[in-house]
Amino acid sequence: MGVLDGKIALVTGGASGIGLASARALAEAGAAVAIADLDADRGESTAKELVAAGARSLFVRTDATDEEQVAAMVGRVVDEFGGLDLALNNVGRGELGRTVTTTSLEKWNWILGMSLTSAWLGMKYEIPAMLARGGGAIVNMASSAGMSPQTTASPAYAAAKAGVVHLTRYAAKQYAAEGIRVNAVAPGLTLTPTVEAWFSPEAIAEQVSSGQFVERAVVPEEVAAAVVYLCSPAAAMVTGHTLPVSGGIA
Ligand SMILES: NC(=O)c1ccc[n+]([C@@H]2O[C@H](COP(=O)([O-])OP(=O)(O)OC[C@H]3O[C@@H](n4cnc5c(N)ncnc54)[C@H](O)[C@@H]3O)[C@@H](O)[C@H]2O)c1
Repeated sequence: MGVLDGKIALVTGGASGIGLASARALAEAGAAVAIADLDADRGESTAKELVAAGARSLFVRTDATDEEQVAAMVGRVVDEFGGLDLALNNVGRGELGRTVTTTSLEKWNWILGMSLTSAWLGMKYEIPAMLARGGGAIVNMASSAGMSPQTTASPAYAAAKAGVVHLTRYAAKQYAAEGIRVNAVAPGLTLTPTVEAWFSPEAIAEQVSSGQFVERAVVPEEVAAAVVYLCSPAAAMVTGHTLPVSGGIA
């Protein structure tokens, strides 16, 4: 028996990194898992992997910043699986080496769209589907960069992720009486394909030794475990919170 047996989940950006690890962990805990991602090859292969492991799964190619596509994706999940109980709004992206004065308006808007608007858009369509089932649980992807100023993160990313933290708390208050819990996770530097492409092992070692109590990078499975907990009945009285998974920094 898994803690999420019979539940129906969706994960945006579920074909790589933290989203992929979370999709696997949600499926292992018993949930049917829909993968919503831009990358059709990796999305399809993730869904196939979960099915081969005994789960129900489905890939829906989706741009998480496009309202029509998000609405259609949630509709397809509800049609195919019969409803929606759990969602991880995981899509987000920053840029390297930018300060307040060297950020372009175009990149600012793109990063806000990817890292904050995508979480709101997801909730806009997930919440009505969950209300139709009498409740649900949502996890939004924040970041330690949105909890305290880290100048390795771009200002747009830091602001977007801080926005995710507050939006999470706001939505949690708005829908608590209707049975929907909304939380966030805030990973520290996590070894995903993007991070491994962006940073050398030396740069990763330097970042994790400046402020973290546990001086190593997070692995995606550690974030996924927090996601499963927040989705599970064990977290029934946990809502509006952002859970850091960051070795001791906020
Ligand atoms: N890796 C870290 O150190 C770290 C730390 C804190 C927070 N985060 C956050 O975790 C989340 C996942 O990061 P990751 O490092 O696992 O990323 P990743 O690059 O490994 O995976 C991102 C996935 O999102 C998909 N994607 C990109 N744009 C999309 C869009 N518009 N619509 C749908 N899918 C899209 C990609 O195809 C990919 O499968 C992000 O929100 C990121 O900001 C990451």
